[in-house]
Amino acid sequence: MDIAVVTGASGGIGAAIAKAIAEKSEGQLAVCLHYNGNRQAAEALVNEIPNSFAVQANLSTAEGRKTLLDAVLSKGTPFCLINNAGIDRPHEPALMVSEEGFDKLIATNLKAPLFLMRDFAKEMARNESGVIVNISSVLARRAVVGSAVYRATKAALEALTLQFAAELGPKGIRVVAVAPGFIETAMTAEIPEEQRSGIKDDVALGSFGAPEAIAETVWHAIENQYLTGAVIAVDGGMAL
Ligand SMILES: NC(=O)c1ccc[n+]([C@@H]2O[C@H](COP(=O)([O-])OP(=O)(O)OC[C@H]3O[C@@H](n4cnc5c(N)ncnc54)[C@H](OP(=O)(O)O)[C@@H]3O)[C@@H](O)[C@H]2O)c1
Repeated sequence: MDIAVVTGASGGIGAAIAKAIAEKSEGQLAVCLHYNGNRQAAEALVNEIPNSFAVQANLSTAEGRKTLLDAVLSKGTPFCLINNAGIDRPHEPALMVSEEGFDKLIATNLKAPLFLMRDFAKEMARNESGVIVNISSVLARRAVVGSAVYRATKAALEALTLQFAAELGPKGIRVVAVAPGFIETAMTAEIPEEQRSGIKDDVALGSFGAPEAIAETVWHAIENQYLTGAVIAVDGGMAL
């Protein structure tokens, strides 16, 4: 059984990606719904998506990453890895950046996807086929106060995407990044209304996006056999 692994499927963008893969692959891909703390969301999704299973793991630890890999290998062959799990906090202005906040953001947003890519790609290389999609952010290219370390993690993830694409292409594995703009999920739900209008003024299309817009592009990355080493912005024109 070929498996698409979606990390952070319990969150807004991850859930939309998991549903899109299940629907568009017409059941050809089993979906591994990874979650960390939100078991309820993952269980609800398992009931909604046929041919899916949930795995709990804290991906900021090596043990958690091994738990996810072992669970997937016990069910079948990993064909897609969607590195979507991520955090955007703490929000710390440049002069307030803390070592604790740095370590947390790096562990979740950079170390986790890097070592998941390494370990899942080793499995994909056995079959000379696989696709990895890393979820970056428009903030890799935009300065928003409080996002210094978050921005650094996403910019580094984009660099890793290009590096892995170059090294893994000859092994039949494609690696792509998708960089969302501001999307309506729990991550952006607490932004105060005043700040939301300011952000929308910066977006050419004038609104926040839906998680489904990201899911559509992730599916495109999975399907398009000649696509690798690209960073695809899906941000309503915010990075312009
Ligand atoms: N929303 C936006 O505007 C936006 C814009 C640009 C980029 N992004 C990126 O898109 C991705 C998804 O964001 P979202 O908006 O869907 O956020 P979300 O709804 O807050 O979901 C975040 C997901 O990450 C998981 N997660 C967090 N820490 C984890 C850890 N240590 N180990 C394993 N899983 C962990 C969460 O699991 P539990 O809930 O189960 O704990 C949850 O499933 C992130 O990488 C984010 O940086 C989002």
